[in-house]
Amino acid sequence: MKKAWWKESVVYQIYPRSFQDSNGDGVGDLPGILRRLDYLKELGVDVLWISPFYKSPGGDNGYDISDYQAIQPEFGTMEDFDRLLAGAHARGMRVVIDLVVNHTSKEHPWFIESRSSRDNPKRDYYIWRDGKNGGPPNNWGSNFSGSAWTLDETTGQYYLHTFGDFQPDLNWDNPAVRQEVFRMMRWWCDKGVDGFRMDVISMISKTPEMPDGERKPGSSYGSFAPYVVNGPNVHAYLQQMNREVLSQYDLLTVGECSGLTVDQACRYANADGTELTMAFQFEHMDLDGGESFKWNTRKIDLVELKALLTKWQKGLEDRAWNSLYWCNHDQPRIVSRMGDDSTPALREKSAKALALCLHMMQGTPYVYQGEELGMTNVPFGGLEDFRDVESINAYHELTANHTFTPQRMLECLRYKSRDNARTPMQWDSSAGAGFTTGTPWIMVNPNYTSLNAAEQLARPDSVFHFYQALIRLRHTHEIIVYGSYDLLLPDDPQVYAYTRTLNGQKLLCVCNLTGRPASFALPAGFAGARLLISVGDAPSLDGQVTLGPWDGFALLQDNAEL
Ligand code: GLC
Ligand code: CA
Repeated sequence: MKKAWWKESVVYQIYPRSFQDSNGDGVGDLPGILRRLDYLKELGVDVLWISPFYKSPGGDNGYDISDYQAIQPEFGTMEDFDRLLAGAHARGMRVVIDLVVNHTSKEHPWFIESRSSRDNPKRDYYIWRDGKNGGPPNNWGSNFSGSAWTLDETTGQYYLHTFGDFQPDLNWDNPAVRQEVFRMMRWWCDKGVDGFRMDVISMISKTPEMPDGERKPGSSYGSFAPYVVNGPNVHAYLQQMNREVLSQYDLLTVGECSGLTVDQACRYANADGTELTMAFQFEHMDLDGGESFKWNTRKIDLVELKALLTKWQKGLEDRAWNSLYWCNHDQPRIVSRMGDDSTPALREKSAKALALCLHMMQGTPYVYQGEELGMTNVPFGGLEDFRDVESINAYHELTANHTFTPQRMLECLRYKSRDNARTPMQWDSSAGAGFTTGTPWIMVNPNYTSLNAAEQLARPDSVFHFYQALIRLRHTHEIIVYGSYDLLLPDDPQVYAYTRTLNGQKLLCVCNLTGRPASFALPAGFAGARLLISVGDAPSLDGQVTLGPWDGFALLQDNAEL
C-alpha cells in the first residue's frame, strides 16, 4: 500500500464558534484557537480541520459564505488566520480548511448579481427555473425543511437551494463557476493551507431534467437525492479540480459525501489519486435514523454497526482510504448516543471503549472538539435553547404537520440535534467553562463544572489521556495505520473484536460496547502477546477473557503465525 502523511495522521476538528472566545463577546474566534494550540499539540493530533470562519451572515453558522477570501469579523482578521496557520505549522501541525462550494450565501456578490436580472452575466452561476402550475419547478424538499426552491420576485423565477433558502446552490455545470472556485482554492493553497474538507461535495452535480422526487414519508415534499447526490458530472468536476488545483500541492482532501456507497467511495477517494484523498461516509450515522429522517430516539444496533463498518474496512482496502469518525459538528455526542453518560465512571469508560474501537481501525481518525474529554449531549430545555437552523425548522415543520407532538419533537432534538455538538468547549470549571468571560452564544453544558479539560489534563486516567495514548500508538505502530482488517465474532451482540495484520505482526482489538459483563475467547496465536492499551484493568490473557462493562483492550503479537 502506498504510504502518505494523510494516512498516518489524526485530524482534530475545530468548530470556531464554540472552541475559544478571546474577547468576551461569547463567540469563539481565531485568536482563541491560537491560544489553544499547545493543548492540541499535547493531545498529539497532526492536522486541524477548522470549520468555516469566512465572511458570512451566519444563518448556518458559517456554512453560508458571502466572501470566500475574507474572515467574518466576529472570528477575527486575515492576519489572525495567518498567525494561526504559522502557529500550527511551527508546532508541526497542518491546517485543513472547509470548502463550502455546493452553495453560497444569498448575500454573496455573485448571487446578488445573479438575481438582479435574467440576462445578468452571473445569472447562470446559480440554478434558476420557471415555476410550474403556480408553484415551484418540482416537489423537492430542502434539507432544512420546506421546498428546495424559492421564488425570486425580481425576475419571477425560482432558485434551487438544497439547504436553507439563504444558501442558493451554485451551478457547477457552468465552467466559469468551476474556474472561480479553483482560483479561490489556489489562493488558499498558496497561503499555505494543507487541504480541504469539502462540504456536501457529492451534491454539486445535478441531473438537468430535475424530475419530481419520491415523496418522503410524512412530508409533502419529494426527495432530490437520486438527482443530486453522486450526480452525473460529479467525478468529472472533481477530476478537473484535481488536475487544475489539488495535484499542484500536497494536500489532505476529504469529501463530505452524504449518500456514499463503497463503490462510489472507490471513485471519490480512489487509490490512483485522481480525485480526493478520502471521503466521509454516513451509513453508520444513519443506523439510528429511519422513517422520519434522523428524528427519533432509537439506538444503534451493534451487530449492524459491525457489519457496516466491516463492509467499509474491507471494501476500501487497497482501493481507497477510510475516514474514521464518531463525531462532528452535525452529530450528537457519541458517548450519549452509543455509550452511557448516566454516571461519570460509565461515561469515561464508554467514551474510551468507543474511542479504542474506532482508533484501531484502518483509515484516518477524526476527533471532534470535546470528544477527547468525553463531552456529552446537552440537557436542552425548550426550543428557545436551540440555535441550529436545521433543528428549529424541523421542529416547526414536523409539529405543524402533526408528525410529532411538540414534546416528542423536543425529545428527538435533545437526542439528535446538531446543537449537542455545538455548545462551548469545556476548558475548566470557571463560569463560562473557560470558553468565554461573556455570555456564550449558546448555553454551556452544565456538566462543565466536573467535565472539563483542566481536570482531565491533571488526571492520568482521564479520557483525554486515553485519546493521547491512542494517537501516540498510531504514530508508533505502522500496523495501526496500514494493517489489513478482519472482523471476529460478527454475531456477538456485545463485543466488537477485530484483528489487523501487517508484515508478520498481528493486532487484536476487543471492546465490550455494552454496560453488561461479557466474555471473549482469546484466539489462538495471541498467547503471550503484548498489551498495548486497555480500558479498565489489564485483562488476564489466557483462554476465556472476562470483560466488565465497557472494558476493552488491544494486543500486539510480533511473530504471528499467519
Ligand atoms: C454540511 C455541513 C453542515 C451544513 C451543511 C450545509 O452538511 O457539515 O453543517 O449545515 O453542509 O452547508
Ligand atoms: Ca470572540
